[in-house]
Amino acid sequence: MSFDLVFFGGTGDLTWRKLMPALFQAFRHGKLPEGGRILAVARDDRSDEAYRQFIHDRFAEVESSKRPSDEEFARFAALLHYQRMDLSHPEDYAGLKQWLDARGADTVVLYLATSPYLFPVICEQLGAVGLNGPQVRVVLEKPLGHDLTSAREINRVVRSVFSERQAFRIDHYLGKPSVQNLMALRFANALFEPLWRRESIANIQITLAESIGVGTRGDFYDKTGALRDMVQNHALQLLTMIAMEPPSTNDADAIRDEKLKVLKSLKPFTPESVARDVLRGQYKAGNVAGQAVPGYLDEVKVPPGSSCETFVALRTEVQNWRWAGVPFYLRTGKRLAARDAQIVINFREVPHPIFPNASQPNKLVIKLQPEDGLELHLMAAKGSGPSDQLSPVQLDLDFDRAFPSERVGAYERLLLDAIAGRLNLFVRSDEQEQAWRWVEPILDAWSRDATGLRTYAAGSWGPAAASALVARDGFAWAEEQ
Ligand code: BG6
Repeated sequence: MSFDLVFFGGTGDLTWRKLMPALFQAFRHGKLPEGGRILAVARDDRSDEAYRQFIHDRFAEVESSKRPSDEEFARFAALLHYQRMDLSHPEDYAGLKQWLDARGADTVVLYLATSPYLFPVICEQLGAVGLNGPQVRVVLEKPLGHDLTSAREINRVVRSVFSERQAFRIDHYLGKPSVQNLMALRFANALFEPLWRRESIANIQITLAESIGVGTRGDFYDKTGALRDMVQNHALQLLTMIAMEPPSTNDADAIRDEKLKVLKSLKPFTPESVARDVLRGQYKAGNVAGQAVPGYLDEVKVPPGSSCETFVALRTEVQNWRWAGVPFYLRTGKRLAARDAQIVINFREVPHPIFPNASQPNKLVIKLQPEDGLELHLMAAKGSGPSDQLSPVQLDLDFDRAFPSERVGAYERLLLDAIAGRLNLFVRSDEQEQAWRWVEPILDAWSRDATGLRTYAAGSWGPAAASALVARDGFAWAEEQ
């Protein structure tokens, strides 16, 4: 199967930092289908050779195990091409079409790695020159809008040119092996499903903690904030995968229908419940891993006095028979104590304890990163003391160790799936819009309340009030248990 993969924004950060290294890994692992060409388009004039040199130089910044040798790069570079395009010029799209038509590949993947405000104009122009035939797929990188209205506008234009099955909306979390494992855990094992409900589960916690700050992205981040950057997409996608009903098949639409139902079942926020159940914070200077780091307001390109949130914690519920009354706690933040993404399923206590010492409820920890694995926390008799003396023990499963050489990175997985036309790990427009619909009352409430932002020291687990949010229900975050 021949394919042409076009990167709009071909000289941008995303392309050289994430996409090219991911493609190179696919190439190195022999997973990239034969007969592929990769075309980068951007505004400045350069030759194929100059573009190859640019990518070659950028690879120096990629982690060493993922860098090509000279011989590997020479073979990979033969796939790379470059074309100058001004994205507002219709004739440049005609030129692109000509380049693609000259060969007529089986599949054309158009990856929009540009600022999202350009998506509508790019899609319209692609449609105008007929670059929307059945062999064409369009990949849309996040952020897809900054609220419901802008997301709908992008989707309206995309839909006027491409069918839903041609639109591949990226949420790179869905490409992570650990996240795909959630589906396997739930729907390829009979063990957990009977317990996966309100009768057995006390609460669910989703934590996406980062130890990095906003780096050099201060201007972008300040217009975005943690709610839009991490909750509307990554955290909600994880929540849907935990809470969804078993899909009838492993097809994209069967899965996405079930995920959409979860999003529609999320308890809607009101101004009162935002004040009670949603918390936002911003980091102050502190220490992360023994290093002094500046506060958010001292980061480059952050406007003075910004009230942008770098931390969010919230409590919600999925209002259906399976989950009624079970709190789902979500939290995410920059400059937290560790890079740690995990989902903790806290089971209920035993209904009638017969052992004298306090028994700890079971818990299943789904570790997404940095490690990728599962921990099942149980109670057991140690054997050394009296027979009724129990201790907590845990079963540990490390997927990186179980499948050492077969792990495929998130962007590599998603690029290969886009080339293969597999939509399972991409977000459908109605899911994405529903997620915006759910977060909008939070954005609205915050825009009317200038006083709600709390601070936290870099290197901590966020504002103390995040603990209180969970403690109110009689629970605690995993690191406090
Ligand atoms: C991106 C956000 O979507 O996800 C970034 O824009 C964030 O702010 C990143 O750092 C986190 O991704 P990962 O894969 O490093 O957890």
